[in-house]
Amino acid sequence: LKVPHRRDVPFARLTTLGVGGLCRWLFEPTTEAEAQTFVRACVRESLPWRVLGGGSNLVVLGDLDLPVLRLALPKEVRREGTRLTAPASHGHIALAEAAATAGLSGLEFASGIPGSLGGAIRMNAGAYGREWVGVLSSYRFLTPEGDLVEKAPDPGEFSYRWSFLTGGRVVLSATAALVEGDPAAIRAQVAEYRGKRGTSQPLSKRNAGCIFKNPPGLSAGRLIDQAGLKGLRIGDAEVSPEHANFLVNHGHATAAEFADLMEQVRTKVREVHGVDLEPEVEIWR
Ligand code: FAD
Ligand code: EPU
Repeated sequence: LKVPHRRDVPFARLTTLGVGGLCRWLFEPTTEAEAQTFVRACVRESLPWRVLGGGSNLVVLGDLDLPVLRLALPKEVRREGTRLTAPASHGHIALAEAAATAGLSGLEFASGIPGSLGGAIRMNAGAYGREWVGVLSSYRFLTPEGDLVEKAPDPGEFSYRWSFLTGGRVVLSATAALVEGDPAAIRAQVAEYRGKRGTSQPLSKRNAGCIFKNPPGLSAGRLIDQAGLKGLRIGDAEVSPEHANFLVNHGHATAAEFADLMEQVRTKVREVHGVDLEPEVEIWR
């Protein structure tokens, strides 16, 4: 396959938690056409495959012997009026920075959410009452067959930490509809959000953000906290004493320890509160 690739890359280097086995086949297309070639080849060979972004919402158990696609498209941000378009492999926080620098408001919420733009669209990432679907004016993606589609979001395609962009769909780029703003005010908003994050989230340790989605009307962090699970530790994997919905890596944790810890937390919250938490973090095996 004429697509740039590497062999045996540790997932510890590809994910923010810093754990996981080897990525046996990592394909890193530098053009959309190469990405399309990759998807079509997998379809032709009936090969299952995965798409990886910044690995900030992911735990991989063991070695993965499936082709993994990680876009490496040129990092250009295009501005048309107050719209910004960027490739899916663009850094998410870097895009929020670019918007702030351009004096465009609307992506302040994104300023503390790591990973790639593609991962953020797929997850409909959000914070502080905002989420991607609220600013998304159009996006381009490959269908599971490898066909290119460009469209505006429609109702039912995105909801809280969910989108239909799974099952072999690959986000290629996205356009945000922003508004002119006062650069100082945008910076101040970003600083306020960063401050809030810094006091409530354990950002000094490797983590994958919130592990579970908030059940409707409830806070997963509070439920886990009230179940007395802060500080629960398996090896170097721990339920953060700062924010109970974050698991942190003290240095030498393994993917299996994180998966075990997630299961223990889920079981305990079910026992104590009768609530079944839905994972936000994906486990690949
Ligand atoms: P990955 O972890 O690489 O992948 C996640 C999922 O997206 C996988 O299913 C993967 O297959 C899919 N995917 C990746 N790229 C594509 C693509 N191009 N096309 C289709 N599917 C794709 N999330 C929030 O929503 N709000 C927060 O406030 C927040 N805070 C965080 C804070 C920290 C410190 C950390 C570490 C994480 C936080 N997260 C938060 C979680 C995470 O950053 C987001 O879910 C992020 O959008 C995931 O993007 P990624 O590129 O890292 O995706
Ligand atoms: N709380 C506790 N104990 C804890 C943690 C939280 O009692 O250990 C309480 C807090 O005191 C607060 C409530 O739970 O009253 C909610 O906590 P917080 O404000 O920290 O927000 P959250 O619901 O835990 C959500 C998102 C975050 C996002 C923040 C800010 C989810 C699952 N989490 O966190 O997103 O950054 O709001 O908007 O939706 C992510 O998705 O990965 C993520 C980090």
